[in-house]
Order: sequence, then structure tokens, then C-alpha cells
Amino acid sequence: MGINIAIDGPAGAGKSTIAKKVAKELSFIYVDTGAMYRAMALYLLEKGINGDEKISEACHGADISIRYENGEQQVILNGKNVTSFLRKEEVGNMASVSSANPEVRAHLLKLQRNLAVENNVVMDGRDIGTTILPNAEVKIFLTASARTRANRRYLELTEKGEACDLEAILKDIIDRDERDMNRAVSPLKQAEDAVLVDSSEMGIDEVVDKILFVYREKV
Ligand code: C5P
Repeated sequence: MGINIAIDGPAGAGKSTIAKKVAKELSFIYVDTGAMYRAMALYLLEKGINGDEKISEACHGADISIRYENGEQQVILNGKNVTSFLRKEEVGNMASVSSANPEVRAHLLKLQRNLAVENNVVMDGRDIGTTILPNAEVKIFLTASARTRANRRYLELTEKGEACDLEAILKDIIDRDERDMNRAVSPLKQAEDAVLVDSSEMGIDEVVDKILFVYREKV
């Protein structure tokens, strides 16, 4: 059994940036479960499938696995490396819808648990501390205000030269939170034994240090 660090929280709280740094610091592997939901969403979009019943049936046709190249997680969908297609808004929005489907969640649960059994992992997502790895040694609930998260996303897109609208981003974040927190299966929620970290007023390194501190105290 590996040592498991679970980091959950809403979209845009900085989970992946921070989880990656924590993993590097401890020589653990970083598992981005959002990318797996995004790969499933990509599969459904490519097949033109929506509607819950159809998703339940179709999701079994998506064979999703991961591998690492130069320390970076790559997502393989039915034999094809789809990593570079996963960050699009369209895919993220579909992922937020299709991830509410119980069959989709059951399909990805095994893959996530197996990775955590075989490796020391920092795994980020929405239900890692509550459902996937309830016995994780360290659980963090990483959040920030919706406004802060929208500002960060706006800066990120503007730096990449992409035209975007701050209020539209904020609305997207609020809608996504709403769907993630209110779905029936594995909603986004802080595990009882998770440490709450609000990064609204914190820099990246400060958050990383805080998590490493929690880890060293517990393990
Ligand atoms: O974290 P990321 O934005 O890549 O996740 C995409 C979507 O996948 C989220 O909006 C969320 O609905 C879903 N997700 C999930 N459970 C996870 C990880 C992501 O439901 N463990």
C-alpha cells in the first residue's frame, strides 16, 4: 500500500499546481483525476452523446489509463494519448456534467484506487478524501473564494493571449461549483478529517509548505 495524500476542492483553487509541487518535493507520483473525467468527456463529445441514460451505457466503451512521460501524467483513451485535448473549456464543461453520472464514477474509481495501492501518490479531485481514498494518510480541502479563482483563471488566459471575459469566467466557476457540490453521487465536500486550506490570501509556495507541514506531522 502506498502513502496517500488526497487534495480535494473546487475548480480553480490551484489543486493541480500545488499537488504537483508537493508530489515533486516528496518524490510521489501526482495523479490528476480531473484529467480522467475530462478524457471521458472527450470520448462522449466525440461520440456525440449526451443525456444520462446514453452516458451510462456509452461510458463503458472508454478505456482510460495513465502513464508518465518525464514525470508528466499522460492520459490514454482507447490507445490514444489525448492529454493535449483535455484542457479546453468545452471538455471541462462536459466533464462537469458527465462526472455526475454514477456509472462514469464507478468506471474511474477502480483506476484511481489501483494507482494509490501501487504507488505513493498525491491525488487531486473532488471526492478523493471522502470516497476514493477514505484512509488517505493526509487529506487537504483546498479552496479559495469564487472571485479569487475567477481572477486567477482570467490572468492565466490573458497571459496565454486568449480573449476572455472575467464575469463570464466567474459565472462558469459558480455554475461548476453548484453542479459539483449538489450532485447525488460523490459531491464535492470536505472530508471530516481533512485540513481546510483557503488559498485566497496565500501564495503557491505558502500552500505547498502548509501541506508538507501537515504531512510531516502525520506521517
Ligand atoms: O479538476 P478539473 O477541472 O480538471 O475536473 C473537471 C471536472 O471533472 C470537474 O468539474 C468535476 O466535475 C469533475 N471531477 C470529479 N471528480 C474528480 C475530479 C474531477 O467529479 N475527482
